Amino acid sequence: MADAETRLYGVIGFPVRHSLSPVMHNAAFKALGINAIYLAFEVPPERLGDAMEGVRALGISGLNVTMPHKGAVIHFLDSLSEDSGEIGSVNTVVNRKGKLEGHTTDGLGARRALERAIELGGRKILIIGAGGAGKAIAYELSKDNEVVVLNRTLEKAKALERFGIMGDALNRENLGKYLEWAEVLINATSVGMNSWETPVPTELLRKDLVVMDIIYKPLKTRLLTEAELRGCKTVDGLWMLVYQGIESFRLWTGFKPDEGLMRGAALEGISE
Ligand SMILES: NC(=O)c1ccc[n+]([C@@H]2O[C@H](COP(=O)([O-])OP(=O)(O)OC[C@H]3O[C@@H](n4cnc5c(N)ncnc54)[C@H](OP(=O)(O)O)[C@@H]3O)[C@@H](O)[C@H]2O)c1
Repeated sequence: MADAETRLYGVIGFPVRHSLSPVMHNAAFKALGINAIYLAFEVPPERLGDAMEGVRALGISGLNVTMPHKGAVIHFLDSLSEDSGEIGSVNTVVNRKGKLEGHTTDGLGARRALERAIELGGRKILIIGAGGAGKAIAYELSKDNEVVVLNRTLEKAKALERFGIMGDALNRENLGKYLEWAEVLINATSVGMNSWETPVPTELLRKDLVVMDIIYKPLKTRLLTEAELRGCKTVDGLWMLVYQGIESFRLWTGFKPDEGLMRGAALEGISE
């Protein structure tokens, strides 16, 4: 039951009504006996500044930030973690005694998800997609792996070269070339979200490839379905969502919720 001591957390985005974060975080607060609640706030871009003033004025303890605010929210924060400053993206805000800190947990979430299937370090990783999520994942994984990013808009892939990441155009020829080299394939495009499309022709998938799709609607995308049929190890996008949520929760509270509990709550949320 909420009382005068209850702390408030939430996610801001536009739209945000589909978000699974409230069910995951509220399940974790309950399981850990933390007196807090987590809500979804639909904030249009032109009200972002007002919303962040509201966070300060009301003493909201922490936020997740989702599209389209991950870059713009930086203007309203007092400090940034090194990773979020480098990639220019924030998905977690921590209110520490009135000072708003920006962090990004998307990359770490993807790392933990991938570690379910393969030990990382010195791996050859092909990421397709250099949007907000692709960039965060590429930056994180390039710390200890060789990373190539292919993107439809070439300049966005090339912009990652300052981190020592090789960037190239997303086309069939490059997919063929880099998939011969890669041990891990990550789809960070939105191709296959709520549709039966795949960004990678099935004949290019070798059975010794680990394939992760960061899309989680549907949970088993066409890419993951075809990869499984080819004999590849696969990781779905819900694992990334769960682990980025766990990292945000840890930043806010110092506690690490159980991954099975978070995933179970998210799965229930998806099926509703
Ligand atoms: N599992 C998780 O925790 C998690 C977290 C974040 C995002 N996601 C999912 O990841 C996906 C990408 O999210 P985002 O935030 O990075 O979005 P974003 O910034 O809008 O980036 C979209 C990416 O998809 C590419 N793309 C879109 N349509 C394409 C097409 N027809 N052919 C080739 N490439 C195409 C874009 O290429 P261009 O640059 O050429 O436009 C860009 O690289 C979404 O489906 C989102 O739901 C999952």
